[in-house]
Amino acid sequence: MVLLCHIDDIPEGAAKGFDPLQEGRDSLFVVRQGATLYAYRDLCPHYGETALPWRKDGYLDGAGQHIVCASHGARFEIDTGLCISGPCRGQTLTGITLEVTATGQVLAHL
Ligand code: FES
Repeated sequence: MVLLCHIDDIPEGAAKGFDPLQEGRDSLFVVRQGATLYAYRDLCPHYGETALPWRKDGYLDGAGQHIVCASHGARFEIDTGLCISGPCRGQTLTGITLEVTATGQVLAHL
């Protein structure tokens, strides 16, 4: 497991990318909805080596309702990672299991 951050480092309704393996780019991201966190690899199933955002932490649409890929506009459900529109409709983001400790530390199972 790898320590990502404290849960309070991710604002409510927002997403944040992380580079836990020091690869020089964010390889995963976490979306916070209330007390619930969702984490996925930062790779679009349309082209497997393509990162989703066009800018740091830009994983969500303007309304914060869906995860979006900036390259060709795929939209994904936040809670499942399922692509609901765009060129990879029906495919899913790769989920990552998280653990939040009693003190609010967020750990990722890589
Ligand atoms: S690379 Fe994500 S929609 Fe094409």
